[in-house]
Amino acid sequence: VSAAPAEREGEIPVPGFDAARMEHYERGTAHRGPRELLVRALAIVGEPAGPGAAPRRAIDLGAGLGQEAEELLRRGWCVTATDASRRMLDSVRRRASAIGAGDRLEVMHAAFEATPIAPESFDLVHAGFALPFCPPRHFDAVWRALRASLRPGGLFVGQFFGPRDEFVITSPAEVMSSHTTDEVRARLDGMEVLVHEEVDRMGETAPGVPKHWHVHHVIARKRASEP
Ligand SMILES: C[S@@+](CC[C@H](N)C(=O)[O-])C[C@H]1O[C@@H](n2cnc3c(N)ncnc32)[C@H](O)[C@@H]1O
Repeated sequence: VSAAPAEREGEIPVPGFDAARMEHYERGTAHRGPRELLVRALAIVGEPAGPGAAPRRAIDLGAGLGQEAEELLRRGWCVTATDASRRMLDSVRRRASAIGAGDRLEVMHAAFEATPIAPESFDLVHAGFALPFCPPRHFDAVWRALRASLRPGGLFVGQFFGPRDEFVITSPAEVMSSHTTDEVRARLDGMEVLVHEEVDRMGETAPGVPKHWHVHHVIARKRASEP
């Protein structure tokens, strides 16, 4: 009897992102390019200062299949990709090798709350549709570590879910993390908020299944002097 994907060796169980959700995510996104929000953020960051400029570093938290890590690598960034799923990280590695950028990729196989994230190490934090799957009891610590990991002027790019999101509503309280508009603002307090777009409407998941989405899309810049 073959085990469900998330029960196979190498998969760290995540209650909010079980095998069925993983399969759904993969089926819907395997053939798409990088997320638009990241592309917008990279336009804000602009090109490196010049040929001698130090390479820019990004962390892709919950990197999934790796489209966003690949985009960063293509643009010359050094990327740390993290995920609870070894299979996802294998996909990120394959993408990096295929474009000859394996030497600029580091992977970390861990749940968010167990991921070592060093302070002031990154110019960009990408957390694409990932943080909502962090259990609420770990969220504060993970968020603090992510903010601290940004260098001054660095960008946070990613999504929070709102409380009316269907995944949130249909999950037990301790499984997924959701944020109201004011709670997102509080998370970003002290940062320069460049984008905060809230979507709260019926839509579809990537494979085309109807779903109510309540999502905050955020790009925020760490100020030079963050407390
Ligand atoms: C919806 S996918 C998003 C992938 C990609 N970032 C994107 O924007 O498409 C969420 C990813 O986060 C990972 N993930 C979810 N919860 C996690 C947790 N608590 N710790 C580590 N990884 C987690 C999943 O394995 C999955 O690869």
